[in-house]
Amino acid sequence: MKLSHLVENIPPSPTLEITAKVNEKKEAGENVISFGAGQPDFDTPDNIKEAAHRAMLDGFTKYTAATGITPLKEAAAAQIKSSLGLDYNPGQIIVGNGAKQVLATAIMACCNPGDEVIIPAPYWVSYPEMAKMAGAKPVFIPLEAPTFDLDLTAVEKAITPRTRAIIVNSPSNPTGRVYSENALAGLARLAKKHQIWIITDEVYDFLVYGDNQHISIATIDPEIQKQTLVVNAVSKKYSMTGWRIGWGAGPKELIGAMGRIQGHYTSNPNSIAQKAALEALSGDQSSVEIMVRAFAERCKFIVKRLEKMPGLQLQKPQGAFYVFPYIGDIEQDDFSFCRDLLEEQGVALVPGSAFGAPGYVRISFATSLEEIAEGMDRMEQFLKSREG
Ligand SMILES: Cc1ncc(COP(=O)(O)O)c(C=O)c1O
Repeated sequence: MKLSHLVENIPPSPTLEITAKVNEKKEAGENVISFGAGQPDFDTPDNIKEAAHRAMLDGFTKYTAATGITPLKEAAAAQIKSSLGLDYNPGQIIVGNGAKQVLATAIMACCNPGDEVIIPAPYWVSYPEMAKMAGAKPVFIPLEAPTFDLDLTAVEKAITPRTRAIIVNSPSNPTGRVYSENALAGLARLAKKHQIWIITDEVYDFLVYGDNQHISIATIDPEIQKQTLVVNAVSKKYSMTGWRIGWGAGPKELIGAMGRIQGHYTSNPNSIAQKAALEALSGDQSSVEIMVRAFAERCKFIVKRLEKMPGLQLQKPQGAFYVFPYIGDIEQDDFSFCRDLLEEQGVALVPGSAFGAPGYVRISFATSLEEIAEGMDRMEQFLKSREG
């Protein structure tokens, strides 16, 4: 029996493959330290779990409106207002099954088959596949190494009459980069000039380090807000990756179009998880502060350890929970590097090639300080053995 051309062109998620390999080793009794995780290691706070329990007991277990319940949209709008200063009404918000579904639906709503989506590389693994699933073509523009700044000349060169959307991800997975206001203003100018949608993925907005500040491209001016979809989720900020709730805020026509697609794909996001997300957004925020402090401490610690390691080239992360060093001077092939490190020292990283950046590796510090310390000891040994 034949399968579609679409699935032939969609590779499995490389990050999930690493997780499977790590689990296999752990089951075989090996002591593996994984820096592969794309999710906080903290538990979902109790007040959020209790809200879900209450929703179930109250019988809030039926279909909801396809684009989500109004109180959750209002809570998302209130959070955007307080963090970005932007106004959205519930008709300009769609709630989906995680940021991931919102992003995929947005690309489907913006693109016809053969249209182009500009994706700065390194990129989060799912963007190119989302574009392909919508029948669109991912067009990659390299970010400027070693800082991974936006290269506006490269963006302008990549724009064609078929360009429909540009994806912005700041703070970035995998680079940890936070784009400056200048870079975003330049990108906004280009998007307005060529009438291109901006899809901005801001799921790590709450995690910035030192003097860095999260700026949304939607805040550059009122005109760009009208052609931008701001995407966020409870997944990372409230340690709710399994609950699958995210949202997009944008112009009514785009949100309406996305709602029509979503209604047929999934009816609505899970009713109980919506109530839990409502509590996350409107309830006690102290768990977020605790998590943010822990990540800042881990970031400092892991950077200090990595800076001392031979052969690595490193940019300090400005946000999110990833370090993305260049290992190409030690081993050109990042897949071999990760395979050998896992086999020889039981440490799992994700090869940069998975993010369109050969020669790099992604190290997630969404794990305890003890695990980070042990993992860094092992990595140091591995690199010393390569050196000598
Ligand atoms: C940049 C980025 N966007 C979106 C997502 C997915 O978010 P969600 O779990 O809300 O679908 C992730 C998860 O790893 C991510 O790193």
